[in-house]
Amino acid sequence: MQGELNFLFTVEAVGFCNLECPSCPNGNWIGERNPRGFLQPSLLAKIMEKARSECNVTGVCLFNWGEPLLHPKLPELVAIVQNYDVPCFLSSNLNLLGNINALMEANPHTFIISVSGFKQATYNNTHKGGNVERLKKNMVALAEARLRAGSTTRIQVRYLLYLTNLQDVVEMKRFATDLGFEFQAIWAWMMPLEKVIAYLNDDPNEAKLSYEDLLTIKNLALPVKETVRIFQQYRIRSCIMRDEHVTLDYMGNVQLCCMIYDAKRFTIGPYLSIPLTDIQERKQTNYMCERCMDKGLNVYCVYQGPELNRLAIENILRHDAKAPGEVLNQEILKPTIVGMDWLSKDDALKVLLDVYKYRKDLKSAFPEVADGEYRRLMKWAYTSGTTIDTAKPYLRKFRNWYRKAWIKDILTRPSAR
Ligand SMILES: C[S@@+](CC[C@H](N)C(=O)[O-])C[C@H]1O[C@@H](n2cnc3c(N)ncnc32)[C@H](O)[C@@H]1O
Ligand code: SF4
Ligand code: SF4
Repeated sequence: MQGELNFLFTVEAVGFCNLECPSCPNGNWIGERNPRGFLQPSLLAKIMEKARSECNVTGVCLFNWGEPLLHPKLPELVAIVQNYDVPCFLSSNLNLLGNINALMEANPHTFIISVSGFKQATYNNTHKGGNVERLKKNMVALAEARLRAGSTTRIQVRYLLYLTNLQDVVEMKRFATDLGFEFQAIWAWMMPLEKVIAYLNDDPNEAKLSYEDLLTIKNLALPVKETVRIFQQYRIRSCIMRDEHVTLDYMGNVQLCCMIYDAKRFTIGPYLSIPLTDIQERKQTNYMCERCMDKGLNVYCVYQGPELNRLAIENILRHDAKAPGEVLNQEILKPTIVGMDWLSKDDALKVLLDVYKYRKDLKSAFPEVADGEYRRLMKWAYTSGTTIDTAKPYLRKFRNWYRKAWIKDILTRPSAR
């Protein structure tokens, strides 16, 4: 039994996609693809039952390398997860709507819309096969469906930044916020991890790289090699994806982690037949983690902050890429722990920054917060702010989140150890 241990589950709802983004294995994998299919509701119910008996399930993401809105029974899947009082997270390219009314009635906790442009000529480069006008129409329909259903679903537009799409980001932000959606801009990276490792080590055994892959990598605003150089000095021998996440394909087979694609090589075994403790043990000894941690990719996968913003902006300027002031002055780039920010139900960071804004003592103790450096403030929130400080009533419910954010930030900066 895992007792009080927390795990975030990824359970793939649909094992394929309607698009072929060049930075995703659906668009770039060379060789045999993973099996295609739909997650059965009865299987999900069994997975939830076992998971709840083994650990504290902090959330379930019904997506990994596929498009969840292709699933004809997606509202039912969401309901199965949330009947266990576990938040359900979705992420979609929203080029299709599925049964959006039923989905909003099922009220998933969070719905991410992944985008990479506002004009078709921009969008189609990086969301290959996608139609941005259809996406925008569907965004409006989603906003209306949420309103009609009285749903509390948090809808967040995630803009993936490349060298070629920076000029559209402001327009998309305006469009999204006018619809009442949250907006987040993050630096796109190359996926899956096998391709990144193949590229860094010049090792075709890990994954085959095509000429298009090299162009995709060149098109990233955040340059891979320089980023890895930064993370190599901060590299750590633990990984939140390995230690606190469980990733399953649509058939219920455990995968090494959600950043890895090749199921033939990285399937751990059927979740329903293996105790969670054994699954975790098997993951610990996988050679891939060793290779990944050597490069610091385990941190690169989840963290984006000021030092990476600086690196990407230098790269943008070097390439003379068209970028608005909002990107160059980092206004549009909030430091983020990718894939974790939605764990804060009412936005833990926002509440903490609100407290900070009104407190002279905190401002003089942690002046670096103004530059987006939150590590020491997170530590304060976890150790004092949520326990003995007068701000305790506001911050207490986010204690676990501050702890995680603090620890993860520590992991990226050796000086903090
Ligand atoms: C592979 S997608 C699958 C779900 C869905 N098809 C979508 O695109 O949102 C899983 C997550 O990866 C993110 N993502 C996609 N391409 C990315 C990239 N190049 N860099 C970083 N994140 C990316 C998406 O925003 C999404 O939340
Ligand atoms: S990133 Fe999402 S939309 Fe793009 S190909 Fe991959 S799964 Fe499909
Ligand atoms: S170390 Fe790398 S490959 Fe292993 S679980 Fe973490 S992110 Fe995945």
